[in-house]
Amino acid sequence: MSISKIEKYYNKKAVKQKDWREKSPIFKFLDKLKWYSISNVFTKTGKVLDAGGGEGRWSIKLAKHGHNISLVDISQGLLSIAEKNIKEKNLTKKINIFRADIRKLPFPSNYFDYILCEGDVLCITPQIQNTLKELRRVLKKNGIIYATFVSYYHALFFQLKKGINDFEKFQKTKIINVGSLNFHTYKKDDLERLFTLSKFHIAKISGEIYFTSFLYGENQFKELKNEKISKKLLHLEKDMSKQDEIASFAGHLIVVAKR
Ligand SMILES: C[S@@+](CC[C@H](N)C(=O)[O-])C[C@H]1O[C@@H](n2cnc3c(N)ncnc32)[C@H](O)[C@@H]1O
Repeated sequence: MSISKIEKYYNKKAVKQKDWREKSPIFKFLDKLKWYSISNVFTKTGKVLDAGGGEGRWSIKLAKHGHNISLVDISQGLLSIAEKNIKEKNLTKKINIFRADIRKLPFPSNYFDYILCEGDVLCITPQIQNTLKELRRVLKKNGIIYATFVSYYHALFFQLKKGINDFEKFQKTKIINVGSLNFHTYKKDDLERLFTLSKFHIAKISGEIYFTSFLYGENQFKELKNEKISKKLLHLEKDMSKQDEIASFAGHLIVVAKR
């Protein structure tokens, strides 16, 4: 899949909707869950590269917690929204925006303390091995990369639900189509191999979002509007994310690795 196709896709999606994530019970829930995982890793304040940071939701959250952010994205449409969001929150001194391809970054080597690749950006990036090499280049020694990936086994269930033809096709390609984008899915072993080949030291591969994705779309899981139920389910998702032996069944795999 070409970068210009990815860029066009995200430029089309770039419509500023005020607080839409806050208003959607399911996205509010998922954001809480994701922040739980991110904040457990980005513990000491430092220089962060938000790679494929889009409209800047994690840049803003991390900047509020004291980090200095370089937000990089290929989509000018999403970056324009990010710029407005950052101004509204008075964070222009903490977040710098760059329109660039994460496969060739405009930064010196050994520059960042952390890299965030949230939202499965590496699943749609062509030449992932070279991209990991480039990300490693800009990371300081002992710096940490946090990257999420669509999990192969979770995607397999969804393909089975669609029918045997989709299932068999998926088994061959390991690719799922979301919108008009192709997302490569990964097993734990694939990620271990990829990161090790790129000379990262893996600290942890954990799972994230076990059951919530099954509820997505089905009436937007209206029970999540109930704070008490939402809290209980969040607790369950957090608990499951600590059980490494079931990580492969989660919707996403999170790799935390050191340079
Ligand atoms: C699913 S969105 C995730 C956005 C953000 N990380 C988040 O979690 O809200 C993927 C983002 O990656 C960006 N992207 C995809 N490929 C890229 C590349 N090669 N270089 C820079 N940005 C890229 C897209 O424009 C889009 O904003």
